[in-house]
Amino acid sequence: MSKGPGVKKMFDDIARRYDLMNRVMTLGRDQHWRRFVINKAGNVKNGSVLDLASGTGDIAALFGETVSDALVIGADFSLNMLREAKRRFTDQSICWQACDANNLPYQDNVFNAVTFGYLLRNVDDSLVVLMEVWRVLAPGGKIVCLDTTPPEKNILYPFIRLYFRYGIPLLGSLVARDKSAYAYLTGSTMDFHDAESLADLFREAGFQQVSYEKFMLGTIGIHWGTK
Ligand SMILES: C[S@@+](CC[C@H](N)C(=O)[O-])C[C@H]1O[C@@H](n2cnc3c(N)ncnc32)[C@H](O)[C@@H]1O
Repeated sequence: MSKGPGVKKMFDDIARRYDLMNRVMTLGRDQHWRRFVINKAGNVKNGSVLDLASGTGDIAALFGETVSDALVIGADFSLNMLREAKRRFTDQSICWQACDANNLPYQDNVFNAVTFGYLLRNVDDSLVVLMEVWRVLAPGGKIVCLDTTPPEKNILYPFIRLYFRYGIPLLGSLVARDKSAYAYLTGSTMDFHDAESLADLFREAGFQQVSYEKFMLGTIGIHWGTK
């Protein structure tokens, strides 16, 4: 059974509290990673950018603030998340669109950059989405992906595991009032590709100059590449 309908419902349910929970859970570091994403997307002036799984719109809005004269599209399949995005960024001319990352409603070779935060963990097959992103990117266009990464088994592992196993679901119930959504975050992170295998998937989808950097004690990864 596809993960899609359950994931969509989950984000529809937590949309109103999503941003607060993000700030609390990451100790306020989440915007710093999103800025890193924007930098890795390269120069998109006078071009077009797609922020997929845009959710409540933070990455799209950072593009809107930092890049003038670019068409910025923020796309997501959760209408409640998109409603929050629209409400938060009324002053920006971002084009918000509802769509599924597995099957993008865009022509081939159109975007100068495609970004996404915390998408791939939520889809059935990351490679399908990466190939779809490859299709819509213009030659030379950049892909940048921000997501959680399973922690490495080093000296810090037991502490990180405790935070994921108990801390995040507890915060989820207190701040977002939805423990199960944040228990899902923990489970989907632990089951997700490690950073090196995800880089290999980027290469398999056709991307070149693939690289990545990890943050937050190795629990966050940002991958990028070029079509
Ligand atoms: C954790 S939120 C991330 C939101 C935003 N990128 C950020 O940085 O905060 C994940 C988003 O991915 C969206 N999503 C998950 N699977 C999707 C799919 N197949 N197609 C489109 N959006 C999807 C969800 O609706 C949700 O808004």
